[in-house]
Amino acid sequence: MIQHFLTLLDLSEDQAQSLIQRAIELKAKQKAGEAHEYFKNKVMGMIFDKSSTRTRVSFETGMAHFGGHAIFLSPRDTQLGRGEPIEDSARVLSRMVDIVMLRTFDQEKLEQFAEYSNVPVINALTDMYHPCQLLADVQTYVEHRGDIKGKTMTWIGDGNNMCHSYINAARLFDFKLNIATPVGFEPDSKILQAAGERIMLTSDPKQACEDADMITTDVWASMGQEQEQAQREAAFANFQVDSKLMQLAKKDALFMHCLPAHREEEVTAVVIDGPQSVVWDQAENRLHAQKALIELLLNQK
Ligand code: CP
Ligand code: NVA
Repeated sequence: MIQHFLTLLDLSEDQAQSLIQRAIELKAKQKAGEAHEYFKNKVMGMIFDKSSTRTRVSFETGMAHFGGHAIFLSPRDTQLGRGEPIEDSARVLSRMVDIVMLRTFDQEKLEQFAEYSNVPVINALTDMYHPCQLLADVQTYVEHRGDIKGKTMTWIGDGNNMCHSYINAARLFDFKLNIATPVGFEPDSKILQAAGERIMLTSDPKQACEDADMITTDVWASMGQEQEQAQREAAFANFQVDSKLMQLAKKDALFMHCLPAHREEEVTAVVIDGPQSVVWDQAENRLHAQKALIELLLNQK
């Protein structure tokens, strides 16, 4: 059985812990200018059905650091975009490349691709999850504040793909998660229930922020929901992360955002550009955490 990374729960707790430590090590190696070309001539196929800046650049750069190569594939110029079945595309690509990352809409499409792939497949964001981002977020928290176990993370906003991955991360890394969403925008109930009592769900952002060690949010309209922007702006009006909300958290609480951000919508400029914000470290850590992930998946027996 090939180990894929379709959700965070594809990692064991031990693998997740080691991966974060390895990400920190790989970051130090890169900063020290130490070569780490462990995967010469290995090739990653990168399929993007949605836009990306961080994900594309971090995976492509990561493969270059490893001495390998990455191929950017978009539906505009591949046969995937002209209706070649996903099963056939998976079989063909995985006969040539060593690892694949896929950013798409349906989690089912990713699962189907993985089923027919002979090489590891990475979820680079679906409508349901964004597990790569959580590896970077946990790394960032650990670098700034140490162990994340038992700490309280707060999610403000949409019960979306990022929120679902935060719920899975709470299980995997054993932290508490307070979630505040407007009524009607709650996360998937099955994902929520599986995480048990470590999750607190409310429609009151203030309650969710009390005594938090970290507060995070995301855009109100995700990719594919652009036509709902106006309706969502109204629904989420009370869910902007501003200085008042930050003040309810612990004094040394961090602010995170997976980016791209909309200043003065889900977060004020004062917060995202302020002293508690670690969003640039978080963005950078996509590179290091995903290199640790690539290494784990390519080294599997
Ligand atoms: N956070 C994130 O995944 O960014 P991109 O959409 O730019 O890849
Ligand atoms: N929830 C956002 C995350 C972007 C990285 C989206 O899916 O568009």
